[in-house]
Amino acid sequence: MKRILITGGAGFIGSHTCVSLLENDYEVYLVDSFVNSSPIVINRILSICDLNNSNLGKNLKVFKGDLKDKVFIEDIFSNADKSGNPINGVIHFAGLKAVNESVLNPLRYWQENIFSSLNLVSVMKKYNCNLLVFSSSATVYGKESSSPIKENSYLNPSNPYGNTKLTIEKILNDLYDENSNIWKIACLRYFNPIGAHTSSLIGENPVGMPNNLFPLICNAALDNNTKLKIFGSDWDTIDGTCIRDYIHVSDVAEGHLKTLEYLNNHKTNILKMNIGTGLGTSVLELIETFSRVNKVTVDYKFTSRRDGDSKEIVADNSFSSSLLNWIPKRSLEDMCIDGWNWKKNNVNGF
Ligand code: NAD
Ligand code: WQD
Repeated sequence: MKRILITGGAGFIGSHTCVSLLENDYEVYLVDSFVNSSPIVINRILSICDLNNSNLGKNLKVFKGDLKDKVFIEDIFSNADKSGNPINGVIHFAGLKAVNESVLNPLRYWQENIFSSLNLVSVMKKYNCNLLVFSSSATVYGKESSSPIKENSYLNPSNPYGNTKLTIEKILNDLYDENSNIWKIACLRYFNPIGAHTSSLIGENPVGMPNNLFPLICNAALDNNTKLKIFGSDWDTIDGTCIRDYIHVSDVAEGHLKTLEYLNNHKTNILKMNIGTGLGTSVLELIETFSRVNKVTVDYKFTSRRDGDSKEIVADNSFSSSLLNWIPKRSLEDMCIDGWNWKKNNVNGF
């Protein structure tokens, strides 16, 4: 059985990926400081395993700690080695991800995201663990990139969060170049993951006020007194609102499984890969779909454009679909239904 360490495994995408890995007979070492998640997620992951009448929860082991603490990471790798069953690979989700917060406090983002990643890869190198999937982001592309965006588009993030993501990609390039005979690395550039597990047991549960569109749509649907602010009605798009590539979080999780399988079965490489559907949806289209499939009202008003926004950010996903022989299978309707069921059943989060 392959043993995979997942950093940030209690977070939104990490928790869904843990479920996918457990369901596919991986042993999962989940590492999280819970800085942006709750330990209750662990019970929920185990409940999903129980729902399937499976005994798979026994393959989950949890380590609470911070990746900035190198000794903490080293202990995990060293003990795994001593057990005779070393860690085969790492999926590195852990990091801070709020764009606006990164503008207000850039040093915190550099410190958290870069130190954590440096600690992790230096311990991996020491323990000869050479397979890494890193959570990058579509935010690494420049605003001047025209959609659909290919992986070789110009890279020019417009905020400190995006700068940390691109810097980690560069660190991984250098690590690969140092010894290209050993490393198998994939930097997955996610577009806009939304939705939740169909069980409604896990979903997006940010600490503090959400900033992303989908949780804000859910909040407006829950509370008749809350109006969603739509940032701009005068964009040069079909209905004047911005277009994004929304992808179901369970598809994102399955993309990680496919990437792990690919890296395992192929020679050393460093891949940069878009994870998106290739389909563009406007803000108004997302609200309309959400309201229609869930039979709820989402009140909104138009406000001025948000600083730094782009008209359209949609993936060209031809590289991931051909390389991994995989395409996301869930529809925008599925994303809206699953995301709303999660929110309805967990009004106050965990
Ligand atoms: P999340 O905040 O829900 O999950 C991140 C997890 O990492 C949290 O559980 C948090 O407690 C943990 N963590 C953070 N710093 C840590 C540290 N130093 N040590 C240990 N644990 C730590 O975020 P998410 O939405 O699941 O995103 C996962 C990754 O994907 C992030 O790296 C994010 O930048 C990237 N990403 C997310 C999106 C998105 O829209 N959700 C899009 C593109 C990229
Ligand atoms: C989506 C659309 C807004 C809020 C961000 C990060 C990106 C990645 C995903 C991590 C935009 C509009 C939003 C609101 C609105 N995360 N909107 N009213 O900006 O595409 O991407 O999350 O890597 O790096 O930048 O996502 O959900 O903030 O916005 O009208 O209150 O919704 O203008 O068009 P974005 P988002």
